[in-house]
Amino acid sequence: APAAYGTLSGDKPIIIAHRGASGLFPEHTIPGYEAAIDQGADFIEPDLVMTKDGVLIARHDAYLSATTDVADRPEFADRKVKRETPMGEMEDWWADDFTLAEIKTLKARQQFPSRTKEHDGKLDIVTFDEVMDVALAAAKEGRTVGLHIEAKWPGYYSSVGLDMVDPMIEAMKAKGLEEADIPVFIQSFEPEFLAAFAAKSDLPTIQNMVGPPYNKMLGLEYNIDEMTTTGVGAEKSFILNADGTTTDFIEKAHAKGLLVHVYTVRDDAPMAGYENAQAELTALIKAGADGIWVDYPETGVAVRDAN
Ligand code: G3P
Ligand code: CA
Repeated sequence: APAAYGTLSGDKPIIIAHRGASGLFPEHTIPGYEAAIDQGADFIEPDLVMTKDGVLIARHDAYLSATTDVADRPEFADRKVKRETPMGEMEDWWADDFTLAEIKTLKARQQFPSRTKEHDGKLDIVTFDEVMDVALAAAKEGRTVGLHIEAKWPGYYSSVGLDMVDPMIEAMKAKGLEEADIPVFIQSFEPEFLAAFAAKSDLPTIQNMVGPPYNKMLGLEYNIDEMTTTGVGAEKSFILNADGTTTDFIEKAHAKGLLVHVYTVRDDAPMAGYENAQAELTALIKAGADGIWVDYPETGVAVRDAN
């Protein structure tokens, strides 16, 4: 029999399709999520932001220019505005300045220059409801895929009167995710959001962690000894060293009973010290990662199943 995995449960680690199969399609699009399911991902990951009318949509950023065609749309030319962000002042188009109807006129776009742009301009921006529909449709065909759902900037949205906790809980309830046995993780970089969510829901929570320099810029400090979440979502630099060795981060987190999900492995951008994505994945699996976010699910699943 194969050796047991070093995960907290001893089960194989989960492969999480990061923003869908985002290496192959513009992130957070229906074909991107469907490709991830076809390639064997265990979970698909929607990041969520909010529209002006309080609808949860699948976007990584609060601004729209990087992953949509908004900048090329004359009707929205006067909607570009400056905002203070944790990273400094930025001028852009912001999701919460647009209604869902307006967002639905935009088309998705690939933001990484090394990746194909053949799908640009063809795919809609999707709502959280539509992402859940993809998982529910797969379940109906006997293919269970989980949802690893990240609330982006919940503190900011709540400061402008757009709470994320209740809309997320209500949307999942209305879709019947629990009745359909769809596995769910709820993740965020913001501990206050996760605590507020956990006060209203029993779903497992993942505290995302970012390393230097962004932890300082965002004012986010983490102490795994004090965490009350189900687990952590750790940037891979917490585990992989540039000389090819690994840290004892996972061992320490496991000793606290915390799952460790690790982001993000990319076929087209392996980290320094690792020859390719396969080498990174193998190192993370050997170190005991409970889950790994990947932009190319086929690679993640193949390496996981070979280990
Ligand atoms: O959510 C874990 C991982 O996805 C964090 O990275 O891509 O959301 O910035 P990202
Ligand atoms: Ca994410």
